[in-house]
Amino acid sequence: MQDGIRHFTDLSALSSADLRGLLTDAAARKTDLKAGRRSRPLEGKVLAMVFEKPSTRTRVSFDVGMRQLGGETIMLTGTEMQLGRSETIADTAKVLSRYVDAIMIRTTSHAKLIELTENATVPVINGLTDDTHPCQIMADILTYEEHRGPVSGKTFAWVGDGNNVLHSLLEASARFSFNVNIGVPDGSEPQQKFVDWARANGGNVRLVQSAEEAVEGADCVVTDTWVSMGQEHRARGHNVFLPYQVNERLMQLAKPDAVFMHCLPAHRGEEVTDEVIDGSHSVVFDEAENRLHAQKAILAWCLGA
Ligand code: CP
Ligand code: NVA
Repeated sequence: MQDGIRHFTDLSALSSADLRGLLTDAAARKTDLKAGRRSRPLEGKVLAMVFEKPSTRTRVSFDVGMRQLGGETIMLTGTEMQLGRSETIADTAKVLSRYVDAIMIRTTSHAKLIELTENATVPVINGLTDDTHPCQIMADILTYEEHRGPVSGKTFAWVGDGNNVLHSLLEASARFSFNVNIGVPDGSEPQQKFVDWARANGGNVRLVQSAEEAVEGADCVVTDTWVSMGQEHRARGHNVFLPYQVNERLMQLAKPDAVFMHCLPAHRGEEVTDEVIDGSHSVVFDEAENRLHAQKAILAWCLGA
């Protein structure tokens, strides 16, 4: 909350109680939708969606979610906007706030998201930055709990690249009281400030030497692309990451009922094999679906509906 405006910037910015409330609401909205019960609390509201990076899930799930809640969306890309011709984020925030009721942005540096929130007079939602992806992790926790019950006390193993999705998972680990084992190659560690924040707020984070050590006994195995959008300049040879590929051999080290998660899009044959992503442990398409339900709860919370 900032100046009475409910922004959804990061999981660290909301309390455990608020985040739990969002998950409860998301589950209820999912049940209602499946039962054919519709309500339109955002009738007359407009969400601007600003994309400075590609997207399939975030774009479609916010658009459909807003429509299901009775609202409308405007899709904007950085290159079509004056933002692409050096208009500042601050001026863009002030202008968009005169037209729309909320702004969702997918952008590069986290500082741009913060500048937007500091200058907008309507709620701003983080649709991914170089640093974090909180909407994804809300959907992931919803998904885990649907399949395996309360996440509290469970152990998530993250293998591959220590990226934006991991940073939000670390924030969630403190807010929802679960453990995170991180097995990544040297030089691909998450930013230390996210590890420090999680530990300072009650999270149990272990950085280990190998993928095997991370996954041993885990309740959930998570990975993501080895090269995130906009990070191509720091792309490293696949040989560095190959020992961190999630394949059947690695999954067998996790608990027998462990689930496999990936935010998608997946690079099959790289960070995960077909056998695992299409196998019985995988819940990746439930995660993708739950983006819709989780974000409807976030939209309703931001807009006080
Ligand atoms: N997981 C996710 O955010 O997917 P998109 O990049 O397709 O939005
Ligand atoms: N870490 C990935 C997530 C994509 C949804 C990226 O930032 O490209």
